[in-house]
Amino acid sequence: MSEKRVLLIIGGGIAAYKSLELIRLLAKAGVASRAILTKAGAHFVTPLSVGALTGDRVYQDLFDLTDEAEMGHIELSRSADVVVVAPATADLMAKAAAGLANDLASTALLATDKPVLMAPAMNVRMWEHAATKRNVARLREDGVQFVGPDHGAMACGEFGDGRMAEPEAIAGAVLALLGDGPLKGRHALVTAGPTLEAIDPVRFISNRSSGKQGYAIAAALADLGAAVTLVSGPTGLPNPRGVTRVSVESARDMLAACEAALPADVAICVAAVADWRPAQTADEKIKKDKQGVEAVALVENPDILATLSRPGKKRPKLVVGFAAETTDVEAHARAKIAKKGCDWIVANDVSGDVMGGADNEVLLMTKDSAEAWPRMSKEAVARRLASAVAASLHASERKRR
Ligand code: CTP
Repeated sequence: MSEKRVLLIIGGGIAAYKSLELIRLLAKAGVASRAILTKAGAHFVTPLSVGALTGDRVYQDLFDLTDEAEMGHIELSRSADVVVVAPATADLMAKAAAGLANDLASTALLATDKPVLMAPAMNVRMWEHAATKRNVARLREDGVQFVGPDHGAMACGEFGDGRMAEPEAIAGAVLALLGDGPLKGRHALVTAGPTLEAIDPVRFISNRSSGKQGYAIAAALADLGAAVTLVSGPTGLPNPRGVTRVSVESARDMLAACEAALPADVAICVAAVADWRPAQTADEKIKKDKQGVEAVALVENPDILATLSRPGKKRPKLVVGFAAETTDVEAHARAKIAKKGCDWIVANDVSGDVMGGADNEVLLMTKDSAEAWPRMSKEAVARRLASAVAASLHASERKRR
């Protein structure tokens, strides 16, 4: 089998230094890189350091005749299995969205017939600008995939979305595009979002879950190469790339969709399932002047996590639940493992602004260990959890051999 290769376009941003680490990580995974360094990019990293790591010449100028004689820009853009833009600046994305081709990087992006992965990096205001949003949406429509940006402190001193994804995450996304992640060949089932329990055709009981953490986990598992089924209650979130989404409303529908998705190697229950539903759903809208409602009688919903955890042939090898706690997080998490019959609990302290917020601070509780993770973005929690899942599945396989 010939060696896998990426064409790495390094744009002009302070995050360019992380692309050097990306080249190293890819090389470690057996993936060679060939680099295009933009004029702006060369202000942040030198062709010498990039070339030393790729072990190849670094391409910089569309009109460099030597480059064209050795390898034309069309050939350059197609000699790779994947094209990666890291950092993807607002300018590079705007050019690619518009189909401009006035330098080597934009020309390669227009000429390629290979999957393109972008790792955006820019100031939070630039990322949130309507023009950038429009460009990202257009690029997504054109089939471009994205990794990041992350949430956090920026080199410019501001705070928000716009930090380039970490090299490990970008490398993971590249390997997934190459069909080569550590979860390749595995099926992961993830539940996310709230459930919605109808009182009548227009009214319902639900909760404030945004679905962000579950969606991030589904995306992170897919980035590691897993086939992912995301059973989701109503959220306003886009379908993460590479993930099969099954949309449901009620807890009972969510359970049925999960059971239909089995077998799975791992199930991660992140959904905020409504604990109760109205005992009866009225077929017609309840009129306040005619019937009125004294009280809505509630009955308990099935517990999806506990059901999936039940021993049996169809039980996923690893079942993970979430717990929302405000006190005694560790003790409650341990009790929840026993009560639900699952293998791990990711416990979050929801006394702060976790519900609907961008960050999370969790404790990963397994049957024999407890690991407190520092506060980080929900995406970072997702990636760390996905890596832990991959490690656990590999370890259990080794044990069985
Ligand atoms: N869960 C589920 N089905 C339910 C209820 C919960 O799958 N009907 C899952 C959730 O997706 C989550 C975990 O179980 O993984 C949460 O357990 P739950 O008992 O609801 O705990 P908390 O939300 O933490 O609340 P409490 O401590 O009050 O039980």
